[in-house]
Amino acid sequence: MSSSKPFHATAISYLFAFIALASPGCAAAQAQAKPDTTKMPSKMPWMNKSLSPDERADMVLGQMTLDEKIQMVHGQGWGVLRAGAPIPPKSNFGAGFMAGIDRLGIPGIDLADSAVGVRMAAYQSRYATLLPSTLGAASSWDPDAAFLYGSVIGRELRAQGFNMSIGGGVDITREPRNGRNFEYAGEDPLLAGTMTGMLEKGVLSEHVMNDIKHYAFNDQETGRNVVNVLLDKKAMRESDLLAFEIAIAIADPSGVMCSYNLVESHYACENDYLLNQVLKRDFKFKGWVLSDWGATHSTVQSALNGLDQDMPGDDNYFSEPLKKAIQDGQVPEARLNDMVHRILRSMFAAGVIDDPPVRTVVDPFRGRDDAQHIAEESIVLLKNSGSILPLKTAASSITLIGSHADVGVLSGGGSAQVDAPGGNAANPQPGGSHWGEAVYFPSSPLKNIQAKSPQASVKYASGDDVAEAVQLAKSSAIAIVFANQPLHEDMDATSLALPGNQNALIDAVAAANPNTIVVLETGGPVSMPWIDHIKGVVEMWYPGIGGAQALANILFGDVNPSGKLPASFAKNDEQLPHPTITGLEGATFTPSGRQHKVKPFDLNYTEGAKVGYKWFEATNKQPIFPFGFGLSYTTYAYSGLTVDDASHTVRFTVRNTGQREGTEIAQVYVALPSAANENYRRLAAFQRVKLAPGQSKEVTLTLNQLCLSVFNTDQNGWQLLPGDYNVMAGPSSSDTALKATLHIHP
Ligand code: BGC
Repeated sequence: MSSSKPFHATAISYLFAFIALASPGCAAAQAQAKPDTTKMPSKMPWMNKSLSPDERADMVLGQMTLDEKIQMVHGQGWGVLRAGAPIPPKSNFGAGFMAGIDRLGIPGIDLADSAVGVRMAAYQSRYATLLPSTLGAASSWDPDAAFLYGSVIGRELRAQGFNMSIGGGVDITREPRNGRNFEYAGEDPLLAGTMTGMLEKGVLSEHVMNDIKHYAFNDQETGRNVVNVLLDKKAMRESDLLAFEIAIAIADPSGVMCSYNLVESHYACENDYLLNQVLKRDFKFKGWVLSDWGATHSTVQSALNGLDQDMPGDDNYFSEPLKKAIQDGQVPEARLNDMVHRILRSMFAAGVIDDPPVRTVVDPFRGRDDAQHIAEESIVLLKNSGSILPLKTAASSITLIGSHADVGVLSGGGSAQVDAPGGNAANPQPGGSHWGEAVYFPSSPLKNIQAKSPQASVKYASGDDVAEAVQLAKSSAIAIVFANQPLHEDMDATSLALPGNQNALIDAVAAANPNTIVVLETGGPVSMPWIDHIKGVVEMWYPGIGGAQALANILFGDVNPSGKLPASFAKNDEQLPHPTITGLEGATFTPSGRQHKVKPFDLNYTEGAKVGYKWFEATNKQPIFPFGFGLSYTTYAYSGLTVDDASHTVRFTVRNTGQREGTEIAQVYVALPSAANENYRRLAAFQRVKLAPGQSKEVTLTLNQLCLSVFNTDQNGWQLLPGDYNVMAGPSSSDTALKATLHIHP
């Protein structure tokens, strides 16, 4: 392992909104000025929009000095993220900034963290829409919703003067306790890749540069700067890297952010296999690789092994030292040209030069409506005994317990934290939130549930006093316990159990009231030891600024739930491939949840490509709720599966057998021929199907070619094995009654 400079990000005190508000003289940055090309057409022929982005990039490159090229490949420092760091002139107060080249009409790059909405808005007294967590949005299995999600982010970034989004997390839920699962899109490569790809396509549609991260295998936060992930190449390509491959093919990202961890003993940001061989050669990625903040560890090795830009840049690996390495011949100038070309072509391709951001006031109403729509598709109904849901509007009394359900809904933390309008609804105080704080957004379940049922007596108990909560629950027709799992970057959940005394609270309330429903606000899967004692479970994830409205619509049946789980919910930690989080034992944390330095350790992903439902099937274990599972207020029947061997298309019929209109998420899985030596199925296609009561629709889907293939490491390519493929269709990964065979001939 490299003995290079110790990595400081974990020990860094980020500067948050509360400091921002105290900062003197934060003059508002100007949106990037559009160069006046009419005055100098002959001097700037690259402003000709009819040329390709690559041609335009090469023309600019031809005019650049060595210093200008160097200027583009490293950021201008920690800026607003780190207390006391200088804020680069002209920057827009985002997570990062690359200075432009004015004389050539090339604007700077203003990058804003925006995994679930634009971060750091409070710094400039700006507003940003909080969307549902991306894991929540993945529960919609709706690529159009994902595109809408990205377009909200792109729209609001433009309005705030940013021209690049940093988000697009697609690390799969290999570790269900990963503190960042809420920023990702679940455990399956096809679902996660499709949803994240479409999201980032939505960002790009607003002429804002987009990003995919954290490449790769940053599947847990514990020891993220020192962990050495071990996994064979076949398993890599068929699991995590497949999610990246699918997302990148859809999104055509401007940037891919390499991650903090090591993979097979090389840091991800200087990993020739990951960056040069897989990302740039095999995936044909045309954009640039930027390091996660502080994830660069060398100059020459990083440059040669595929890193194109060092962020945030003040460790100076890619400034003077890179210039010297070029002058000394350790790094060919052609490699520097390639770095700069990749950045410039992405700027032209996204349109940030032809159509730079224009400052406007963010439309909070439109953002909220979009967020609510996505939340309504994201919420998953997991249990509904005796049809306790939907609630009757005439219910006499409802008690809500816990999770600040009187005032708000929970959001995810870390660099995905969006600033709450008016501050933390659960803990209002001057200034913004700090790292590790559980921030609630002002979308009140209490108010929205009361509005649906005006005659009912709707009361709230915090749950801090269990006896008080039980008393209130006893006197109500319905008890709804809101249970939370706050998560944030830099820390994992130590177990699948709900934190604090929430399991005991649910047990106590369920014992007092037979009509108990649990609403989960979690960042990822949790265990539910009380599942047999309660009537209803609704997973609403971190539901965003329209969350309470969406929840009330689902609870009262104005919206029929359609979401399905993008990750398996294990019964307990013992069922997981790694019952305890590797490295957690040695990790220590600051009070706010930042990791102190831990000793380097190996994390051997012995489960290989068997992530999530594949693991459960291969090891014959039953989770509480399987991948792809979700209930509706209506019922569906599947029939008539046929497969076309030539085109790999499948057809089947889904019928709404109930009394309500609904949308069913139909799923198709395949088990490969025996030569593949796999004891699990793979998701190969899915589709949302909207159906009126009694209506039938024939669904035609093409099986994803990569999901039918194995990765042949000798040939370094995907291979379709000849043989019989078992094709299964149905409502979830563990309920696929329809079966047919796809024959692939040699
Ligand atoms: C995170 C990235 C983030 C960056 C900039 C890092 O700590 O891992 O996801 O984009 O900080 O804030």
